[in-house]
Amino acid sequence: MRMPFIAGNWKMHKTRQEAVELVSALKSLVAGVTGVEIAVAPPFTALHAVAEVVEGSNIALAAQNCFWESEGAYTGEVSPRMLQEIGCRYVIIGHSERRQYFGETNATVAKRLQAALAHGLRPICCVGETLEEREANQTFAVIETQINEGLQPVAPQQVTELVIAYEPVWAIGTGKTATPAQANEVHGFIRDLLRKRYGERAEEVRIQYGGSVKPENIAALMAESDIDGALVGGASLQADSFARIVQYDKER
Ligand code: PGA
Repeated sequence: MRMPFIAGNWKMHKTRQEAVELVSALKSLVAGVTGVEIAVAPPFTALHAVAEVVEGSNIALAAQNCFWESEGAYTGEVSPRMLQEIGCRYVIIGHSERRQYFGETNATVAKRLQAALAHGLRPICCVGETLEEREANQTFAVIETQINEGLQPVAPQQVTELVIAYEPVWAIGTGKTATPAQANEVHGFIRDLLRKRYGERAEEVRIQYGGSVKPENIAALMAESDIDGALVGGASLQADSFARIVQYDKER
């Protein structure tokens, strides 16, 4: 059985003070919620403060990116070792915004994944096609390349540490969600790719959906066989809406 996993990606939102307010409100709203793993990914500057609030709670800490070296002359970068020490359990890798604006490629995703795993962080590896690619019927080819090249250094015994987030780029921040069936088709395809590479361990890998997830659409997405959770952007910036998404079984 795969434990459902809902993570909030705060992107470049929230000062330290605002982050503490948000996570404190969330913590009381989801206290006592079981059967679903919860994580938040604040910006780097708020990680330490949020770590203090979530300590001992049912909310895990995630970072939004990490570099692949553990230390060195890499001005502006943050290493997985630093994130692990500050209390992060997860790190988002290869988000489409990193691919689109910051030159992230499948090759750099592979390096980050390897480094994160080596430092005991669980990567949330993002994949997804653009609108142009979907319209040109390239969705499966794009996803296949992203998975095969990105996961290239991930050994079979490490794959269950990994979370995959399927985020169609055309659904991110646009208010357009993939239909549950559309998303599940790609999730099933991703699990097949994982089966080919990793055999039955693929059954344990959680595959999140991301792209305009809201309290109103989460229950239908979670009802699909291969959707094991969500990576939530905009709707994770308010405690109330994120808490409703986390408790998706009440939203039916
Ligand atoms: P969104 O973002 O929920 O605002 O569409 C999702 C994401 O980018 O992870």
